[in-house]
Amino acid sequence: METRLEDEVAFEPPEDFVAQANVSDSSIYDEFAANWPECWERAADLLDWDDEYEQVLDDSNPPFYKWFTEGKLNASYNCLDRHVENGDKNRAAIKWEGELGETRTYTYQDLYREVNEFSAALRAQGVEEDDVVTLYMPMIPELPIAMLACARIGAPHSVVFAGFSAEALATRMNSADSEYLVTCDGYYRRGDSLDHLDKANEGLDGVDHDVESVVVVDRLGGDGFDRDLRDNQHDWDDLLAEHDGHRVEPVERDAEDMIFLMYTSGTTGQPKGVKHTTGGYLSYAAWTSHAVLDIEPEDTYWCSADIGWITGHSYIVYGPLALGTTTVMYEGTPDYPECDRLWEIVEKYSVDIFYTAPTAIRAFMKWGEKFPESRDLSSLRLLGTVGEPINPRAWKWYHEHIGNGECPIVDTWWQTETGGMMITTLPGISTMKPGAAGPPLPGIDAQIVDTTGDEVEAGRAGYLTVNKPWPGMLRTLYNNDERYISEYWEEYSDTDSDDPDDWVYFPEDGAKIDADGYITILGRVDDVINVSGHRLGTMEIESAIVGVEGVAEAAVVGGTHDIKGEAVYAYVITEDGYEGDSDFHERIIEGVNDAIGPIARPEEVVFTPELPKTRSGKIMRRLLEDVANGDELGNTSTLRNPEIVEEIESKVNAQS
Ligand code: WTA
Repeated sequence: METRLEDEVAFEPPEDFVAQANVSDSSIYDEFAANWPECWERAADLLDWDDEYEQVLDDSNPPFYKWFTEGKLNASYNCLDRHVENGDKNRAAIKWEGELGETRTYTYQDLYREVNEFSAALRAQGVEEDDVVTLYMPMIPELPIAMLACARIGAPHSVVFAGFSAEALATRMNSADSEYLVTCDGYYRRGDSLDHLDKANEGLDGVDHDVESVVVVDRLGGDGFDRDLRDNQHDWDDLLAEHDGHRVEPVERDAEDMIFLMYTSGTTGQPKGVKHTTGGYLSYAAWTSHAVLDIEPEDTYWCSADIGWITGHSYIVYGPLALGTTTVMYEGTPDYPECDRLWEIVEKYSVDIFYTAPTAIRAFMKWGEKFPESRDLSSLRLLGTVGEPINPRAWKWYHEHIGNGECPIVDTWWQTETGGMMITTLPGISTMKPGAAGPPLPGIDAQIVDTTGDEVEAGRAGYLTVNKPWPGMLRTLYNNDERYISEYWEEYSDTDSDDPDDWVYFPEDGAKIDADGYITILGRVDDVINVSGHRLGTMEIESAIVGVEGVAEAAVVGGTHDIKGEAVYAYVITEDGYEGDSDFHERIIEGVNDAIGPIARPEEVVFTPELPKTRSGKIMRRLLEDVANGDELGNTSTLRNPEIVEEIESKVNAQS
């Protein structure tokens, strides 16, 4: 039996939500368009500036745009001092929940104090303005504290996701010439203590320049690994004790001074060091937190991402704290000790706004609704997703089982490079269409074009482009202006021109747009399959497969095919209880057939218990392509579960 759930294709925001929303007047779209780029003063106005900026946008040298020129500000001041001064010092800034159930609450005053002390400690270690400080830490409060301390003294941070390998740490420290590291002894995963310092030390051994100082947080206490610190390594608590009660004046940063570097993977080669700046990034993170996440200071807001990714930077740390709200941080995994852990946290803290990733939602679906049903989720007012397309079935499940049918959902498209959200509905204004992210935000000029840059008709797949700059955009790739141009601009710009209208940002995503201007993201362009000359988004096919009853997750790749050029290979995880279903294979093929058309019918369907995923949770399609093509397997070292690839391979061989 086919299950394409209800036919409902559009949802309106509930009246209660609209009545209280930060942004609820649809004229904002026209207002921003008519008043561009001055419209972005709205974002800058959410911050306190030491010196007012002169020009909103300096576009005289595209694509090296400057925002809020000559403006001076400090991000740590904006996230802390001003709230302390404004009478909100006793409001909780961070509510942290450890995996084992311990909790810590930092009021704005507490956070202010500890950030000041750590700023003093960093200075005492020799950190000066513009030195890049690498932070290799899991989800513990010392991570945002270190970030804000760096921001306070004008030292850009480069956060390396704790799940990354020693080699990844070394590569990033080398690339950024970073001489300072803050890390920790270890952390907990599913109840076990992990040795993090061992990995950090191995990484340090691969750094090709002198490392001045390493600060080590003692996360594990008595569960620690009893290792002596090296000569240049210092205990976090000792340093804070040495600087007990110290205050550090926030350094005045130019709006265009770097706030942080964030490494992200490209299609090939070395990771790219995405450079964000103080004024543009912070205003954009604050503005989107206000307009899209609808954050108010009184809220308890929770983004379940890891701060090691851009989502955590913008929407756990900088955006929410700039707005003076309470941001929740959780150290562990969603299924420890039980599959209701996240809902337990929502209940415990009365979370108002919850922001997560579709991959998590698919896991919740697989585990079943009994877990959210056992908890009181009635505090929730708004839900969000980010990171990959959400298929309509998962959207509706989230809407019904987490939001009780009463919370708007924002499906937010953006990237490490964009700094903040770009395409999404505004929750107090727009109709929601499950599966489509929505229109570009006010002031964002995005289009869907063909290979020549001409706009495609509604409903046709094309390439997403952004035709005007925005404050949160990356400014360049660290020490690599050339690659900045070649990766993001060359494709659709006239690179000889000084006219900003000739410069178009290319995010490397495929997308389509409907007659109402709603954009559906089809996935990275490198994930697009060309079957008999027809361009198919792997994500679109996956969405179709995930729409079939009994499918928990699916990954689709293109495998070479003699006649069609490429053919669709599908790797499918079934929901518990469906393993032995005899017509499953056929139902999947028919599901794809019905949702997209015969052209997208999978050539092969392989059932597998897991998909190869990077540590950030992204499916490694490249490896599945190798399997599909019978090629030698590419590098599996960045996988969280390398063993699964061979298992899948042997299944494919057994089937064929
Ligand atoms: C994808 C994460 C569909 C997209 C913030 C983009 C999405 C890449 C969505 C950036 C969404 C992100 N719908 N796809 N709502 N959000 N993506 O840099 O392919 O880790 O280019 O930033 O994720 O990933 P990144």
